[in-house]
Amino acid sequence: AQEKGLKDYYKKYFPIGVAVNMRAIQGPEADLIEKEFNSVTPENDMKMGSIHPEENRYNWTNADAIVDFATKHNIRIRGHNLLWHTQAPGWMFKDSVGNPVSKAVLLARLKAHITTVVNRYKGKIYAWDVVNEAIDDTPANYLRNTRWYKICGDEFIAKAFEYAHAADPKAELFYNDYNSEDESKREKIYRLLKSLKDAGVPITGVGMQGHWKLSDPSPEMIRKAIERYASLGLKIQITELDITVRERNAQRSANTPLPVDSGLTPTLAQRQADRYREIFEIFRQYKKVITGVTFWNVSDRYSWLDMRGGGLAGGAAASEATTRMVRKAYPLLFD
Ligand code: XIL
Repeated sequence: AQEKGLKDYYKKYFPIGVAVNMRAIQGPEADLIEKEFNSVTPENDMKMGSIHPEENRYNWTNADAIVDFATKHNIRIRGHNLLWHTQAPGWMFKDSVGNPVSKAVLLARLKAHITTVVNRYKGKIYAWDVVNEAIDDTPANYLRNTRWYKICGDEFIAKAFEYAHAADPKAELFYNDYNSEDESKREKIYRLLKSLKDAGVPITGVGMQGHWKLSDPSPEMIRKAIERYASLGLKIQITELDITVRERNAQRSANTPLPVDSGLTPTLAQRQADRYREIFEIFRQYKKVITGVTFWNVSDRYSWLDMRGGGLAGGAAASEATTRMVRKAYPLLFD
């Protein structure tokens, strides 16, 4: 028999998931995924821009490969995501001469997209992040002023859930966001979720992304958010968990030398271990409402926190080169 993994220790609680891409399922991380996890989320390959790059062309290659990998290994799959303001294809919002499309056209395109994608993986993907990050971060604003919002007003959110439900009535449907423990943002998310519930929109739960730090958000903030969302009768999943040990982003102005990465020191590793214990104690206490916990990436070698944006690399290959140049996040359980 195979050695026990995290998923086995958590059998009584909830599935333990991980974000994956082609490299992860084909390379050395694949064994770790099979051993430790019983849920996967495609990190990028099901986002609208990847899977639907042109109006009449879908790109299923990577998404299918991930679904096949998971199915073969008896791993459940969360789909991510059906609607986001980022990684969305430009054609979606424009007509043939480049002008913004009408609300009717945009909703028709959204419906075609959601119907096609959800239908393809019907019965294989058990849960979808339907709408990602629609709430604004500034306290003064409610919804984020995206191309979706500018063209459709707030209606696109309920519509997205309805289209997904029509395509696969058995799929669990989530609203997913970050900083969902922050009081001001939490209340706006609550307001959105409540309005959807009150209107009878088919929503199963809320994804709290969980891109957290060593001491923020506090355990109290995490508990309050879980209880607040659960009070609506919704399920909760922690969808993108990682805990950076980097206190702040590296200075990257042209004439400032980049700070040297000090590595994951024993002190930081211990603080992170304590922090992971603290939050998993909370998750276990709320096992009645928490139906999944997913880590955002497999190992510290390839965390998105080290690969995104500006001076930080911009690709997997550059990850190791940057180790010596910037502070790395070391946010995950595996090295
Ligand atoms: C990130 C991926 O990890 C990166 O590879 C990509 O460059 C940008 O998106 N919130 C989400 C995820 O919902 O889809 C994001 O994933 C991380 C933040």
